[in-house]
Amino acid sequence: MTRPDDWHVHFRDGEALKDVVPDTACRFARAIVMPNLDPPVTSVTQALAYRERILAAVPEGVEFTPLMTLYLTDNTSAQEIARAKQCQHVYAVKLYPAGATTNSALGVTDLNRVRDALSAMEDAGLPLLVHGEVVDANVDVFDRERIFIERVLSNLVERYSALKIVFEHVTTSHAVSFVDSAPATVAATITAHHLLLNRNAMFAGGVRPHHYCLPVLKREDHRTALIQAATGGSARYFLGTDSAPHPRSAKENACGCAGIYTAYAGLELYAEVFESAGVLERLEAFASFNGPDFYGLPRNKDQIEIHRARQDIPPTLPFGGEVTVPYRAGEQVAWSLAK
Ligand code: DOR
Ligand code: ZN
Repeated sequence: MTRPDDWHVHFRDGEALKDVVPDTACRFARAIVMPNLDPPVTSVTQALAYRERILAAVPEGVEFTPLMTLYLTDNTSAQEIARAKQCQHVYAVKLYPAGATTNSALGVTDLNRVRDALSAMEDAGLPLLVHGEVVDANVDVFDRERIFIERVLSNLVERYSALKIVFEHVTTSHAVSFVDSAPATVAATITAHHLLLNRNAMFAGGVRPHHYCLPVLKREDHRTALIQAATGGSARYFLGTDSAPHPRSAKENACGCAGIYTAYAGLELYAEVFESAGVLERLEAFASFNGPDFYGLPRNKDQIEIHRARQDIPPTLPFGGEVTVPYRAGEQVAWSLAK
């Protein structure tokens, strides 16, 4: 198949880069790199420096292009958006509602504060990537995406009618219905873990911190809706792993972090989903065509080969001097990359 891209990945920084970047770079030609570092990547200058650190972690002989993003804050100026537009390495701006997830404390507290930035993005044709959950403590954690659509996203789509919006890591049938009937400016990414797991996976025989992510896993009927969206042939949906490694100690913790590490099998896990839906032939559009088409970028020209051959997933993987526990640790994935 045509080499795919990952339209949503967390690489982290520092020592960890050399451990995680190769997993993505060996499968995907490009990846949209999330800016939720600590401190976050809020300026083009920071994004360019981060890009260099990522490139230094790409293995010899591998061609990989990180597509950088900026972290939207209440203080992001229209000038910074103009700089991002000018810069050939920044491809989008990420909206984290303040407090919604990992390193989102400096995110947006009120959309009225970012009107100038959003208008500038609309003019520049720079996509807004949205973490679509409300942060209202009175809203049940399983309802946060649905309520976000009602309270925030509908208005955003209406008010900024030319703004390209990617509803990131959708997890509910509500999100799928919204995207299906939204204008063509709206698309969505879907993770492998939300396609493969429902919320029971967090409590199978006890609390399973390695299955905790945000948005949190949902019930089976939502997972079914996501599978239909991903495999149904709509060009609105594309691959975004949301691969989000944390050190084991931060996951196996009284207050464990959200995030699931999937990049080491970032394409193969999706192949399982498309195979069991009986539409393997649609994997290529989801993984390799719909994303670049929406972003207005060329599709990749080279090919990648994956086989229906089991790969063993190690119990842990190195992670910046610590270890991270990958999804399927100690188990298997049904597909493998050709050597
Ligand atoms: O599970 C998640 N992990 N969801 C997010 O939104 C952030 C990510 C992370 O950075 O760890
Ligand atoms: Zn993410």
